[in-house]
Amino acid sequence: MHRRIAIIGAGPSGLFAAQALVAAETPGLELSVDLIDRLPTPYGLLRYGVAPDHTSIKSVANALARTFESDRVRFLGTVEFGRDVTREELLSAYDAVIYAVGASEDLRMDIPGEDMAGSISAREFVAWYGGHPDARTQILDRVTSVATIGVGNVAVDVARILVKDPHDLHVTDMPQAVLDTLAEHTVTEVHVVGRRGPHHASFTSKELRELVNLDGVQVSIDPGAFDGIDEEDLDRRTRTNITVLQDCLTNEVPNPRARLVFHFWARPVEVLHAADESVNGLVLERTRLDADGRVVGTGTTFAIGVQRVLRAIGYRSVPLPGVPFDERAGIVPNVEGRVVDADGTVQHREYVAGWIKRGPVGVIGTNKSDAAETVQHLLDDLAGQPAVEGPTLDERFADRGFRPSTFADWQAIDAAEIALGERRDRERTKIEGWRELLELIGAEQDARA
Ligand SMILES: Cc1cc2nc3c(=O)[nH]c(=O)nc-3n(C[C@H](O)[C@H](O)[C@H](O)COP(=O)(O)OP(=O)(O)OC[C@H]3O[C@@H](n4cnc5c(N)ncnc54)[C@H](O)[C@@H]3O)c2cc1C
Ligand SMILES: NC(=O)c1ccc[n+]([C@@H]2O[C@H](COP(=O)([O-])OP(=O)(O)OC[C@H]3O[C@@H](n4cnc5c(N)ncnc54)[C@H](OP(=O)(O)O)[C@@H]3O)[C@@H](O)[C@H]2O)c1
Repeated sequence: MHRRIAIIGAGPSGLFAAQALVAAETPGLELSVDLIDRLPTPYGLLRYGVAPDHTSIKSVANALARTFESDRVRFLGTVEFGRDVTREELLSAYDAVIYAVGASEDLRMDIPGEDMAGSISAREFVAWYGGHPDARTQILDRVTSVATIGVGNVAVDVARILVKDPHDLHVTDMPQAVLDTLAEHTVTEVHVVGRRGPHHASFTSKELRELVNLDGVQVSIDPGAFDGIDEEDLDRRTRTNITVLQDCLTNEVPNPRARLVFHFWARPVEVLHAADESVNGLVLERTRLDADGRVVGTGTTFAIGVQRVLRAIGYRSVPLPGVPFDERAGIVPNVEGRVVDADGTVQHREYVAGWIKRGPVGVIGTNKSDAAETVQHLLDDLAGQPAVEGPTLDERFADRGFRPSTFADWQAIDAAEIALGERRDRERTKIEGWRELLELIGAEQDARA
């Protein structure tokens, strides 16, 4: 018997789920999988989040690309859940639906001045340098000093892109306009702000080491950052982080090209701005932990002069129309991938995988076992379920005269990016605008372009 599965979101978790589905032994059941994405390009944050100077990630990309080698997997791009297709339409066309839409928004600091021009999320900054078609152009004219808030790997990524020698970015696949902006930027100082101590930071040692060892970058750390830390109590990663940071204190860089300043035990309390509402400073308050281990302000404040504030304090998922959503946890509520409503009732034939399932944490590999768990439950449930008989998505789209983009369209984009790169002696140059992407695949221009 033939069963159709829809996966909404062709990022790492959607692709891992598709791989698990086609690899599964399902005697008597022939499965086909439609991977549906709002973008004409698959791979989610692997294409638009992972730092473009981390070129070694290509092997992961190649492994994920193999998903499409199966003739039981199709890619349906430019199809946005909630806009081009509804939950009801999917549930009548597919035997099961996996939501794998990730986290497309971010958390806010909720402090005065946060919305001033120049105070944005790291997500928006990453989307810009990663060439995401939704991204707004970033202008760095007259910006000399930037603050990144948060001490996770995203903060490390954006800090590194800003202090790295721009010549070293030539090997990336950044859009040409981004590369040109970064080649001319005047940022010489990046402040990294952690609201707790260095031993609480979530960045990984490899990423930290890479950041603090960049050529020509002088690192400094506010005094007192290491007070009271007992290294015996720390796990291996944290102990290594502390060693890497302490080594910076004795490392004097002659004639530094840029400065990286770590402020631990400091939280942002106000973004300062000039009369034209552009950012010109950030007020930080010293912090400590209270008896319950919560971060509290000490009342002592200090200001740093910065023209950009990039908050890298976490991504946030958004609700999918008609699908249960836990606003507090920021996920679709689920039990091991089976979607449940607010009362805990299982929503039959609906599943989740990846960041929308467990929140915006974890590296690409984490999504593999996560997706496998979801798929196992889906297959268990599918066995005893009658097949759906509603109109297929292809029929619905044909009625509307709508053509989703295909994997062949993505291959055309891929080839065009490689060709564009060759002209400037680069391996690839990303094409970043909706209009350009849609034109390239002969798709109808719409509100997105
Ligand atoms: C800035 C950054 C850098 C990172 N760097 C690394 C790294 O170097 N190494 C590493 O291992 N991990 C890295 N990670 C983590 C990794 O990217 C995530 O673990 C992973 O991408 C999560 O996969 P996902 O499929 O759940 O979400 P996503 O990758 O976000 O994929 C979700 C997909 O759903 C689509 N979508 C969203 N809404 C809709 C809708 N309504 N309709 C249709 N489609 C929709 C999106 O277009 C996207 O393609 C990084 C994360 C970030 C934020
Ligand atoms: N190279 C890589 O492998 C790579 C690169 C990028 C991202 N990733 C992964 O992607 C995931 C997401 O990364 P992320 O950096 O977004 O998240 P993260 O690791 O959760 O880091 C978020 C940081 O923001 C801080 N924070 C949260 N709210 C704050 C507030 N209101 N004010 C000040 N600081 C605040 C947190 O501090 P507290 O701890 O005090 O809450 C933490 O330091 C992680 O799993 C990461 O490892 C991996």
